[in-house]
Amino acid sequence: MSVPEIKTALPGPKAAAIIARDKRRVSPSYTRDYPFVMAKGQGAVVEDVDGNVFLDCAAGIAVTGTGHSHPAVVDAIVGQVHKYLHMSGTDFYYEPQVELAETIAAMVPIPGEVRSFFGNSGAEANEAAIKMARYHTKRVNIIAFLGSFHGRTLGALALTSSRAVQRTGFGPMMPGVFHAPYANCYRCPVGLKPDTCQAECLNFVEDQILVHLVSPDEVAAVMVEPIQGEGGYVVPAKQFHERLRALTKQHGILLIADEVQSGMGRTGRMFACEHFGLEPDIISIAKGIASGLPLSITAARADVMDWKPGAHASTFGGNPVSCVAAMATIKVLKDGLIKNAEVVGAHLMNRLNALKAKYPLIGDVRGHGLMIGAELVRDRVTKERATTERDQIVQEMFKRGVLILGAGRNALRFAPPLVLSTDQADAVVDIFEQALKVVTRKS
Ligand SMILES: Cc1ncc(COP(=O)(O)O)c(C=O)c1O
Repeated sequence: MSVPEIKTALPGPKAAAIIARDKRRVSPSYTRDYPFVMAKGQGAVVEDVDGNVFLDCAAGIAVTGTGHSHPAVVDAIVGQVHKYLHMSGTDFYYEPQVELAETIAAMVPIPGEVRSFFGNSGAEANEAAIKMARYHTKRVNIIAFLGSFHGRTLGALALTSSRAVQRTGFGPMMPGVFHAPYANCYRCPVGLKPDTCQAECLNFVEDQILVHLVSPDEVAAVMVEPIQGEGGYVVPAKQFHERLRALTKQHGILLIADEVQSGMGRTGRMFACEHFGLEPDIISIAKGIASGLPLSITAARADVMDWKPGAHASTFGGNPVSCVAAMATIKVLKDGLIKNAEVVGAHLMNRLNALKAKYPLIGDVRGHGLMIGAELVRDRVTKERATTERDQIVQEMFKRGVLILGAGRNALRFAPPLVLSTDQADAVVDIFEQALKVVTRKS
């Protein structure tokens, strides 16, 4: 089978029929950029209902790290479904949940004893983190960063500041949330260069928010993405995380690392925090943890997770099928996929940087492992955002058989399953170049 292989007009007839039904009955709030209707998938290859074969560079929004339907994950799931599907960890015990909590405790970059709370989605992991921080510190305020995405439930949404459309019509937001500029070093909010800066962007937190708006002893937590995901795959300078950690410790403020997108091996390390030597108090995990089954974990310092029985729970959170899928996922990641993300990610990054040298439309290439962003600009000096061009490139790549998503206003995100081979990475880059040629010719 050649990959990718587009055999019909897109969408094909079966896809078009399903999309027409979807349009009538499914929530219009979803943001489908192109008409891909899934039939099956294996590894980094997916097939639509009309038999068109695509390379998947989106992994179901950075979820299917082990690839589609990895046999070890499928086996674990099948083994569990024959025993029992559900019991609710809220009111009963089952070993898969305990085993996963033990594994997470040994794995996360949180110093000392660690406990885990189980939910079903990234937003829920962050809701739990927010509630836990308030409960433990007896403080109410939270600081988050502009451009961040932490989820869409009302607590998490108050911290999310990725795109206004995600907040529009839903106010008033949860009070007590303050936003600061993120360390976007390509567009430094204070006009400095990362090699010589002292993370001066954090002066806004230290000299403005904590002086003019809220007393540090009333701030429960700072929530930060170690690498900003939906905001554009933005990698901050190491000193940003170092200074943020020092600042939070100084004031007894908890540091919550939202690793929902950057975690589970995607960056070539189990957690992106490891690239920065960052040791948070709480980590939110979801997306890649169970290869596609719904599961989230809020892992925290055991002394911080001191809430009483009844304080927080979820009927479905930590479902046994998801827990065994997570255990199998972690094993597959440790047995080679994290390394593959590092190696193939470095190859992909080199090839994208070579394209950057050729096409002025590519302003910046950044990332770690297989979490790579390419920011498109109309002019490298003014850095005018190439928004429509980015959208066109997504379409042109789809037409040629690559599923890719945008991130932020004008970046593309390369977030394939971590099983991607170098040959597949090359195919993605070749198709990206074809799309660049079309879009550059048009503009
Ligand atoms: C960093 C981050 N946090 C939280 C979320 C929310 O996750 P979910 O959509 O599973 O609620 C996302 C989703 O994209 C994310 O990227």
